Amino acid sequence: MKYDFETVLDRYDNGSVKWNLMKKMKPQVGRGIVPFSIADMEFKNPPEIIEALKEYLDTAVLGYQTAEPSWYEAVTNWTKRRYGWETKPEWFYTTPGVVNALYHGVLAFTEPEDGVIIMPPVYHPFYKAVESNGRRVVKCPLKEGQNLSYSIDFDRLDALAAEEKNRLLLLCNPHNPVGRVWTREELLKISEICLRHHVFVISDEIHCDLIMPGHTFTSFASLSEENAANTMACIAPSKTFNLAGLEASCVILPDRERRHRLKAEMGRVSYEGRVNALGYKAMEAAYTRCDAWLAEAVQVIYNNHLLLSDFLKEHCPEVKAAPLEGTYLQWLDLRSLGWTSKEQEKIMVEADLFFDEGSMFGPEGNGFERMNLACPQTVMMDGLYRLSQTVNR
Ligand SMILES: Cc1ncc(COP(=O)(O)O)c(C=O)c1O
Repeated sequence: MKYDFETVLDRYDNGSVKWNLMKKMKPQVGRGIVPFSIADMEFKNPPEIIEALKEYLDTAVLGYQTAEPSWYEAVTNWTKRRYGWETKPEWFYTTPGVVNALYHGVLAFTEPEDGVIIMPPVYHPFYKAVESNGRRVVKCPLKEGQNLSYSIDFDRLDALAAEEKNRLLLLCNPHNPVGRVWTREELLKISEICLRHHVFVISDEIHCDLIMPGHTFTSFASLSEENAANTMACIAPSKTFNLAGLEASCVILPDRERRHRLKAEMGRVSYEGRVNALGYKAMEAAYTRCDAWLAEAVQVIYNNHLLLSDFLKEHCPEVKAAPLEGTYLQWLDLRSLGWTSKEQEKIMVEADLFFDEGSMFGPEGNGFERMNLACPQTVMMDGLYRLSQTVNR
């Protein structure tokens, strides 16, 4: 490996949201404990990004900044090179974070009381983006198959999309927390249903660069021109290159009229859609200089997943690991232990295990935990030993 994925970072008192949450849950937690919750990485950033930011800071004036042609070139080349999707500069809006874009999208493309379809268990801000804006969450739960293989309930999706008040689908592609990378065939079925029923789609593709061997990411909008016009895609380098603190993301919206609606909605809350100066530079460096780092990061994450699966089978068979097709978020099934949500949380905290509880993603996640695998192997193994000791007590 050329890059360092082994150094154990100490973010105990550097303002990390994930680490602060751990300290809040257990103020007496020991200094060496690393949390496995919120989705940022316990890896250093790619050195190419840090170098690019240093170069920039040597000459920069940190006034109001906007995207330069080189930024557009970097992002459009990235979507073409990595996803085979030819995007145009005028399709882009920058936003301070993908969740922010989801909120705006919900407001721009639905009316109060409209239904927004989501597929739980799913990333929890999907609920908030809908409910806190006076829209209704309409659930199309994923179907759980054998060995934690999840699939989309297309019959239900079709029935829900047919209801006139259900105007929008929030798609998570790849899907957090179950780790599915939706196949082209699955996405084509979603596209067909949504086009037929005039349901617009916001496709949150923030995890799309973290694809495990044997799987292929398909950007939802790229399926056809008609589908592109019916999609708002959200991408960002934040998960991929551990840049969440820069709040630098993009919306890609091919349809002109939709772009005007989104812009008007952003304008309504006096927001101009800029990201910060360092965010532009980091994004440009990420999308032009960091392919080699990303290839290694995916390998490290996948190795962690394989190691975890073997470890659980051997030492802790009550806990089952879902297959990991994409993301660095491992979905763990603890239902056979028969713990209530409250018991599970208490037991985990006592064992210094700070995962994200499955119920956070909807009641469909009760009895599960989501474990962040973007950490040095030694850190993951420490956590797994604590887990097996707790389960086998
Ligand atoms: C599916 C999904 N969307 C969005 C986000 C967060 O995006 P941001 O930090 O850019 O708002 C996450 C973070 O885990 C996520 O999993």
